[in-house]
Amino acid sequence: MDYQGRLNPESKQEVLARVEAEAGKKSTDSKKKKALIQDVRILLSVCEKQFPNASFSVKSRVSNGDLNLTLRVSGEAADPEKTDSFRYIRDLFEWRYENGENIYTCRFSLYNTTWKSITFSWNYVKQHKHLLIFAVTCQMISAFLGVAAPIVSARIIRAYANNEAWRVMYIAFAILVIQLLRNLFLVVSNQGYNRMYTKTLTALENDLVRGVLQMQSKCLDENGSGLFIQRLTGDTGRIASGFNSLADMVTQILSYAGILIAMFIVSPAVCLFVIMMMAVQSFMEIFRTEQLRKDDKEFRKANEKFYGLTGEMVRGSKDIKLLNSEDDFSGELGERIAEANGKRLFMQKRSWVLKLFRWEVGEFGSFLMIALLAYLISEQIVIPSTALVLYNYYADLGPNAVKFFGSFMEFLADFNLSNERVQELLNEREFPREHFGTRELENPQGEIRFDDVTFAYDHEDPEHPGRNILEHLSFTIPAGKTAAIVGRSGCGKTTTFNLIDKLYEADSGKVMLDGVDIRELSRDAVRGNITVVSQSPYIFNMSVRDNLKLIKPDLSEEEMREVCRLACIDEDIEKMTDGYDTIIGEGGVNLSGGQRQRLAIARAMIRNTRIILFDEATSALDNVTQAYIQEAIDNMRKGRTVVLVAHRLSTVMNADQIMYMQDGKILDQGTHEEMLKTCPPYRTLAEMEGSASSENSE
Ligand SMILES: Nc1ncnc2c1ncn2[C@@H]1O[C@H](COP(=O)(O)OP(=O)(O)OP(=O)(O)O)[C@@H](O)[C@H]1O
Ligand SMILES: [Mg+2]
Repeated sequence: MDYQGRLNPESKQEVLARVEAEAGKKSTDSKKKKALIQDVRILLSVCEKQFPNASFSVKSRVSNGDLNLTLRVSGEAADPEKTDSFRYIRDLFEWRYENGENIYTCRFSLYNTTWKSITFSWNYVKQHKHLLIFAVTCQMISAFLGVAAPIVSARIIRAYANNEAWRVMYIAFAILVIQLLRNLFLVVSNQGYNRMYTKTLTALENDLVRGVLQMQSKCLDENGSGLFIQRLTGDTGRIASGFNSLADMVTQILSYAGILIAMFIVSPAVCLFVIMMMAVQSFMEIFRTEQLRKDDKEFRKANEKFYGLTGEMVRGSKDIKLLNSEDDFSGELGERIAEANGKRLFMQKRSWVLKLFRWEVGEFGSFLMIALLAYLISEQIVIPSTALVLYNYYADLGPNAVKFFGSFMEFLADFNLSNERVQELLNEREFPREHFGTRELENPQGEIRFDDVTFAYDHEDPEHPGRNILEHLSFTIPAGKTAAIVGRSGCGKTTTFNLIDKLYEADSGKVMLDGVDIRELSRDAVRGNITVVSQSPYIFNMSVRDNLKLIKPDLSEEEMREVCRLACIDEDIEKMTDGYDTIIGEGGVNLSGGQRQRLAIARAMIRNTRIILFDEATSALDNVTQAYIQEAIDNMRKGRTVVLVAHRLSTVMNADQIMYMQDGKILDQGTHEEMLKTCPPYRTLAEMEGSASSENSE
């Protein structure tokens, strides 16, 4: 829907009517539709008050059960966070200001939760719907054969009675064939389901992995790894098996419906009573599962925290030991375990109490059923043998159907919750993704420029505005030159690198590569042209060879050995048990700090990009190795833009340009000699290093 006009009561009504009509076509939940209209009405009213008679446009689109609405209003910027009239609806939409227009965007869900979950899962399952159809057909045939077997066996009794031995054998053989086929179809159907499950799971997990890798760094900073691991490993499975369970349940429902119809033919009164009892118990079951869903949500949240800390415990076990804080850590972990298990216990306790109520109602129903049948017999409405059949039906159907209904509701609750959690991860509003432009750098030169850049890590939280880590930072590093950033720990050096590589984006000002705003550049133009050798490089739990091949899959053996030689790591690798095939351990635990750094330098050499940023890349190396590596780095400088961060001034002295950073600003810049003259803190650093080396030499 598109609308353009001036903000006044008539246009407001018109927009509301159109949005309602659009939502009405797709909505499966009238409550959600009402809430949506209410929200849009409030948004329009507030905008009308703020910008009376301003020109505005509304665009709404429905996709995947969501209505996405964009409202543009011309006028002064009215940031909802700072504008009083928006106070109550700040959480409703996102705001940005572009070319004299306030742009409000919001997304409303039109489907009820289950429908949304089913459509979401269907998007994955539909690619393998032939498998689903195949599996369901086989399952139906198997179920039909299951029903047919007892009917056929009934004929045996007649044949026995008639003394027809051959006929008995003939029927027994038919039963054998039916049972063999039934088992066969059941197994084939399960194979179909399993294949569908695996394919769906694979696609879903791949999407999530991609989603997590594309997330903005700050999302990953804010959420523990437990959250991602649980959703990726647990919830995806529940979603992938959703359609299997649904198909299973449909088959069950069909067979229960058959029994009810049979009952109705014999005695409508009994059938109605059974339906009534089933309805009462089912409502009780719905209530129980609703509670269970709420409790489960709490439990899973607590479990995520526990998982996250467990991961940290494994990764940081050495540090925990060295800090002699096993007790503190296990205390902390114990609290999380207790919290998660406490929540589970509460969930189970409540669930069992509610189950008990339902069971007792069921027993009471059996009592009533006997009374009803006794009455029907006494009134000669049914004969005793029929009453017995009806009671058997009830005894079988009643609890089984409700139990089935209960597990169906439990499954649905689980399925919906898992869907919610996975969709949240895939939702860019909840977990924003990195955004890149489309511009490429045809012939990258490697000039880096910061133009009045200000940045804070947690600026998004209006209650706790973050401290600016970089403030009005401006500098230019010409293409092909080597620059160095020095400054006290925490002054913002790594942060500057993070902005160059677009791990984070500047809050204001511009970061430019070759004179182009980094926001306009494509992922390849940025990341493909920059290599960062970080302060604490992450080496993956694979062989040395695979760690290097991760960067360049077609890396030749000679190339690999050559870069390792240049990075002075070749001898170390050859001494390892399996040489280049040695598995390095999670995070590179089997390597020394200096080996990790040298391997990271080897990785950088393989990438061979125009710009290389070394963040304390040689801090863990001894002086001799450092001198060798320095030579390799010096060789890499030719034709490249290199930025060095180092605390050891000897490492940066030869740079074309040295910048002294303090509290997120460049205090001074120049060559080593110039800085010694003009920048007192730099001189102090140099003097301290000089005195330190003279002390050492004494
Ligand atoms: N992911 C993050 N979230 C929030 N704050 C951060 C984050 N990373 C760094 N900071 C903060 O930003 C400031 C600058 O950090 P940065 O890593 O840029 O310092 P640095 O100059 O590289 O220091 P060092 O020499 O110790 O490596 C520090 O106060 C740090 O606490
Ligand atoms: Mg740093």
